This record gives sequence, structure tokens and C-alpha cells, in this order.
Amino acid sequence: MTISTWDDSIALGIPVIDEQHKALFGWIDTLNEAIKKGDGSEAVGEIIWKLITYVTEHFTAEERLMLSCNYPGLEAHRKEHDQFVLRLQEIQVNYIDGHEMGRQILDFLVDWLICHIKGTDQGYSRFIHQQEKKS
Ligand SMILES: [Fe+2]
Repeated sequence: MTISTWDDSIALGIPVIDEQHKALFGWIDTLNEAIKKGDGSEAVGEIIWKLITYVTEHFTAEERLMLSCNYPGLEAHRKEHDQFVLRLQEIQVNYIDGHEMGRQILDFLVDWLICHIKGTDQGYSRFIHQQEKKS
């Protein structure tokens, strides 16, 4: 089983953010590979921890960017981020409790990311590009 990776169809045209999105897919892929290889729960748990840390840093970077250009959709966007982080933390707790990290969870992570980038992230990206044109 392979995991979807980043491609141009979900590019925002904001290099720093596109790089972070690529790295996010990279972390999900690393998680997928570790599960496939049958790595122990300590190794998989470590990757989940790193994924959550990276996601949190990335969301903070996006929110700072939206704040810096007075993007009006910031609050709604932040709520989506917060809900995803909560879901990730639930996944982490469930994993520590002994639940399996299955394909369903990996699919959820990838689907959520693609949907969020193509929808919600496109919103601020368009706004920033319009601002740039005006200036
Ligand atoms: Fe976002």
C-alpha cells in the first residue's frame, strides 16, 4: 500500500507553505512505512509524536501568515486546525492504549490534508495573491 504524496495539483504558490505541506505528506509516508515494516510501537509512537509536532508548527506558521495579511477567514481556519490537532491527539492516545494504527487512519490523515489544502488553504492563498497584485 502506498500513500498519496504531494503534487502540483495542491500547490498554493506560497513556497514556504508548499514545502511544509510536502513535509507533512512525508511524515505520513514515514508512518505508513514504519507500520508496513512492522516497526515496534515505540518507533511508531515516536513518528506519531513527530507528526503532531510538525503539524502544530505548520498550523502556527499558516496562522501567523494569515494574521500578518489580515485575512478575514483566520478564526474559522484556526478552528479547523484545532479540530484536526485534537483528532491527532485522540489517535495518539488510542495508539498508546493499544489500538492498531490501520490503513483507515492513514487514509483519514491524507484525505483530511488534501481536502483542507484544496479548500480552506486555497482561501487564504487566493487572498494573499490578490493582495500582492494590488500592491
Ligand atoms: Fe490550513
